[in-house]
Parts: sequence; structure tokens; C-alpha cells
Amino acid sequence: MRARGAKWLDMAATSYNRNPSFAGGGVHSVLSRMDDEMINSSMWKAICLLSLFLIVEFFFASITKAVEEFPVSPPPMTEGIFPCSNCHTSMEVNPKKRELMEEHTNIKLRHAETMRWCLDCHDGKNRDKLRLFNEELIDFDESYRLCGECHGTTYRDWKAGIHGKRTGYFMGPGKRTYLLCANCHNPHDPKFKPLKPEPPPEGPMGKKNER
Ligand code: HEC
Ligand code: HEC
Ligand code: HEC
Ligand code: HEC
Repeated sequence: MRARGAKWLDMAATSYNRNPSFAGGGVHSVLSRMDDEMINSSMWKAICLLSLFLIVEFFFASITKAVEEFPVSPPPMTEGIFPCSNCHTSMEVNPKKRELMEEHTNIKLRHAETMRWCLDCHDGKNRDKLRLFNEELIDFDESYRLCGECHGTTYRDWKAGIHGKRTGYFMGPGKRTYLLCANCHNPHDPKFKPLKPEPPPEGPMGKKNER
């Protein structure tokens, strides 16, 4: 705070320096010619600038915070599969890499699979949660934080509304809703089937709409 205050005082002095009535004088000569009145008004200027600065800073801090809480679309879960704990609380955790035979047989991990397995992303003990590197547990509607740990650049772009923007949409009264990464990418097999576009609607005469 001291350093910032000092900076603003400097600026106040500099603006005096730019004042035509002091044209040609450096900061030092201005300061030496300052009488009490000037010093007072310089102080006031500094105080005003300082409070303005604080207000602006507070304003931006609250904006940043609001942006950090991303309103997202609901996770694209298969109906009936959540809560996972319905089945998993009574089950042994099996961390072994294997082909699943009894359940989730549709899941074939093809996502840096040589380096990891299911429980690198899903928490073993609480199956209703995802797990970050630092062991923090997050909900499925925050899965973008998990993806962001390895895909930092894409994550930044997504936050800025650049990546994934094409089908980003507005919901409610002007509120931007973010699509989760998982809405477009299968977390288990992200290279394939990104966003299967709807087939073009049938035009009149049964002709396909073509571009
Ligand atoms: C890269 C991290 C990651 C890995 C590795 C991973 N998952 Fe997932 N998994 C996710 C995310 C994220 C979701 C949430 C998708 C969503 O929002 O619907 C998910 C969803 C699921 C679901 C719900 C699927 C549905 O039909 O809705 C199941 C079941 C699941 N994972 C099981 C597994 C199994 C079994 C493995 C290992 C073979 C595994 N996961 C590996 C990240 C991962
Ligand atoms: C209908 C019961 C059921 C539900 C609901 C269910 N699972 Fe499973 N899950 C199983 C069974 C059974 C296995 C073991 C499959 C095997 O070994 O062939 C399993 C295995 C897993 C594994 C592999 C690791 C381990 O402990 O065996 C993961 C990861 C997993 N499930 C995640 C999830 C997630 C995430 C959800 C919710 C989105 C979920 N499951 C919902 C029954 C269920
Ligand atoms: C532990 C690190 C890690 C996490 C967490 C992770 N990824 Fe990946 N991802 C990788 C690596 C490494 C590759 C490239 C190798 C591969 O595809 O097998 C990759 C590949 C991809 C690709 C394909 C890129 C291409 O060139 O086609 C997509 C899309 C993707 N990830 C999306 C996601 C999403 C969505 C999530 C969150 C559910 C996620 N990733 C979480 C490490 C990660
Ligand atoms: C609206 C759909 C959508 C959303 C949401 C989305 N992506 Fe993508 N993503 C795509 C498409 C489509 C591509 C194919 C490349 C392209 O055309 O830009 C892609 C490409 C990628 C790639 C491959 C490298 C690249 O940039 O070309 C990675 C990695 C990736 N996405 C990760 C993510 C992560 C992480 C998130 C969430 C933070 C996310 N995506 C959210 C649609 C989406």
C-alpha cells in the first residue's frame, strides 16, 4: 500500500509539473517553489487519486471474482448413472488397469492412457467427485478445472470465451453460459467425435441443404 500511495503522490507531483504555470520546471524546482497552499492541494489531489484507485481496484476485484464462477451447462451424464456412490459405496475400489467387464463396458480409455487410469481423475473413495493433482475434490460441474490442469492454453481460451465459443450460448436474461469441455469432448476418448454436428435439415423437395 505504501508503495502504491507513493506512486500516486509522484503522479500528483508530475501533474503539477505539467501545469502550464510551472512550465519548464522539473519536479524538484516545482516542489521547491510550492507554498503551503500548493502542498495542501497536492495532498488533496493525491488523496482523491488514492481513493479513486481503491474504488477502481475493489470494482475490478469483484468483477474478476464473478468471472471465476463460471455458469455452466449441466454435465452430460448418462441418465441414472449419478450418484455414482449408489453402487460404489458398497464396492471395493479396484485401481488395477483392466478391461471393465461388468459395468461401464462402453468406456475405453483413449486419453493419454499409457500414463494413467480411471482413478487419476475420479476419486476412489468418493466416486461422486473428480480429483485434481493436489487431491482437491471437485464436482462434475467443475470438470473444466481438471481439464485445465493439463490443457492450460485451451483452458485460458475457454475462460476468455474463445475456445468452444461457436456453440456457446446465452441463457436467461443476458447471462452467458459456458459449455463444459465434456459437453464437446468425451473425457475418456477426446480425440474422436468432437461435437458431432447435426445433419443439415431437409430442404424443400427433399433436397439436402448444402453449402
Ligand atoms: C481425464 C480424466 C478422466 C479419466 C482418466 C477417466 N474419467 Fe471418467 N469421467 C471424467 C469426467 C470429466 C467425467 C464427466 C463427464 C460429464 O460431465 O458427463 C467422467 C464421467 C465418467 C462416468 C459417467 C459416464 C456417463 O455415462 O455419464 C463414468 C461411469 C466414468 N467416468 C468412469 C470412468 C472409468 C471406468 C474410467 C477408467 C477406465 C474413467 N472414467 C477415466 C474424467 C475421466
Ligand atoms: C450400476 C452401478 C454403478 C454405477 C451407478 C456406477 N458404477 Fe462405476 N463401477 C461399477 C462396477 C460394477 C464396476 C467394476 C467393473 C469391472 O470391474 O468390470 C465399476 C468400476 C468403476 C471404475 C473403475 C475403478 C474401480 O473402482 O473399479 C470407475 C473409475 C468407476 N466405476 C467410476 C464411476 C463413476 C464416475 C460413476 C458415476 C458417474 C459410476 N462409476 C457409477 C458399477 C457402477
Ligand atoms: C493428466 C493430464 C490431462 C488431463 C487432466 C486431461 N488431459 Fe486431455 N490430453 C492429455 C494428453 C497428454 C493428451 C495427448 C495424448 C492423447 O491424446 O492420448 C490429451 C489429449 C486431449 C485431446 C485431444 C487433442 C488432439 O490433439 O486431438 C482433447 C480434446 C483433450 N485432451 C481434452 C481433455 C478434456 C476435455 C479434459 C477434461 C475432462 C482433459 N483433456 C483432461 C492430458 C490430459
Ligand atoms: C463448444 C464445444 C467445445 C468446448 C466447450 C470445448 N471444446 Fe475443445 N475443441 C472443440 C473442437 C470442435 C475442437 C477441434 C479443433 C478446432 O476446430 O478448433 C477442439 C479442440 C480441442 C483440443 C485440441 C487442440 C486444439 O486446440 O486444437 C483440446 C486439447 C481441447 N479442445 C480441449 C478443451 C478443453 C480443455 C475445454 C474446456 C476448458 C474445451 N476443449 C472445450 C470444441 C470444444
